[in-house]
Amino acid sequence: MTTESGTSQAPRPVGVAVLGHGTVGAEVVRIIRDDATDLEARIGAPLELRGVAVRTVSEDRGIPVELLTTDAESLIARDDVDIVVEVIGGIDLPRKLVRAALDAGKSVVTANKALLAEYTGELAEAAEAKHVDLYFEAAVAGAIPVIRPLTQSLAGDRVNRVIGIVNGTTNYILSAMDETGADYAEALAEAGRLGYAEADPTADVEGFDAASKAAILASIAFHTRVTAGDVYREGISKISAADLTSARALNCNVKLLAICERITTDDGKDKVSARVYPALVPREHPLASVSGAFNAVVVEAEASGRLMFYGQGAGGAPTASAVMGDLVMAARNRVQGGRGPRESKYADLEIAPMSEIVTRYYVNLQVADRAGVLSAVAAEFAKRGVSISAVRQEGAGNGARLVVLTHRATDEALSSTVAALDELESVTAVTSVLRLEGSAE
Ligand code: NDP
Ligand code: HSE
Repeated sequence: MTTESGTSQAPRPVGVAVLGHGTVGAEVVRIIRDDATDLEARIGAPLELRGVAVRTVSEDRGIPVELLTTDAESLIARDDVDIVVEVIGGIDLPRKLVRAALDAGKSVVTANKALLAEYTGELAEAAEAKHVDLYFEAAVAGAIPVIRPLTQSLAGDRVNRVIGIVNGTTNYILSAMDETGADYAEALAEAGRLGYAEADPTADVEGFDAASKAAILASIAFHTRVTAGDVYREGISKISAADLTSARALNCNVKLLAICERITTDDGKDKVSARVYPALVPREHPLASVSGAFNAVVVEAEASGRLMFYGQGAGGAPTASAVMGDLVMAARNRVQGGRGPRESKYADLEIAPMSEIVTRYYVNLQVADRAGVLSAVAAEFAKRGVSISAVRQEGAGNGARLVVLTHRATDEALSSTVAALDELESVTAVTSVLRLEGSAE
């Protein structure tokens, strides 16, 4: 930096506090320390690590012990801390800490989707009040740049749909079931052994994690505040090996999808739909071939057409890559002046209930194997105006099953048809119901 008298003055360092030194935090701290020279050149000032908040201070974390503290609040409040990186996880504590940082005029970078899916509004307002940045690229799909493309690169386009595989654990499980014929319990156990599934896998397998990410994506894509509670959610724990077999027969894969969509109702009103459920995806769709723990997000916008983002959605280093991108941006803003984009919620669209969503169903029924069963089943679809696209019998006698694929209809009509089928004397059980997404019909 050059002063008015023409003398050179070293730029003021940017002070960083990292809250958390676990899977993600340890990688963030490593990059800040190992890549200091490059980071300084990119930012225009040194990035200096002021401290790292943890639960347990110990000498064997590979960083100087004097950097560690259990007092996150005091670390945040230090005058020489400009940016706070929150990688603790959970909701209540990080909400308090992130608020404290923003209220004190510090920019915040967080990877915390659970926090953002509930409190983006509150936190964005706090950031706005102090003219600081709140960045969260890592909160959705780990290393994959998707928040910044939606917020900035597509800011002049009209996004109609964002559909993604945003949970690596469930994608690993479903891929393993497809590739090895394993049942759900076996695939989940293997995901646990490989470190993908946590000891309590509920947040992943029941779709809560993906629903948080869907809320974040929908908010940004449609300029509307969407919270986790607005997202319709089903998990994968009821998916069976038989569903994967049927999917293969239909030339489909089963994927847990996060779908964020602009829908226009008959009276011309735009609404936002955000939903998470396992669905059949035709094998020719780009998401069908995303296997293992990888993530991918497809964005459909009016001028750009279809864009696809693919890569590692979790893990220490990949997630730290996204955190570091945000940290460099926030640090540059500190050095050069200015701010990143603020929250955009001007459209304030209504949230569409699941019943209004138009989709296709795959229904697997255990039936009596006798004359008239097929027509009784078909009659229930016809009564509700649901058109059948294909029907196939699998097995015979006591093992007879009917697999029905519908054309597009409202979820209300489809779900009431399924409820009626369940009451039919000739239907022993509705074995499974899945939606079909991404088909041309
Ligand atoms: P970890 O559980 O591995 O690490 C959490 C860290 O927070 C630990 O270092 C822990 O300290 C510290 N911590 C917990 N409570 C406190 C407290 N009261 N005060 C100070 N420090 C505390 O979590 P991850 O690194 O896996 O995840 C961090 C965030 O990143 C979460 O929001 C997660 O959703 C998100 N994320 C994670 C991804 C991943 O692949 N892991 C991917 C994308 C996002 P100690 O070490 O002493 O226990
Ligand atoms: N549990 C998440 C997953 C981690 O499996 O994708 C990334 O948010």
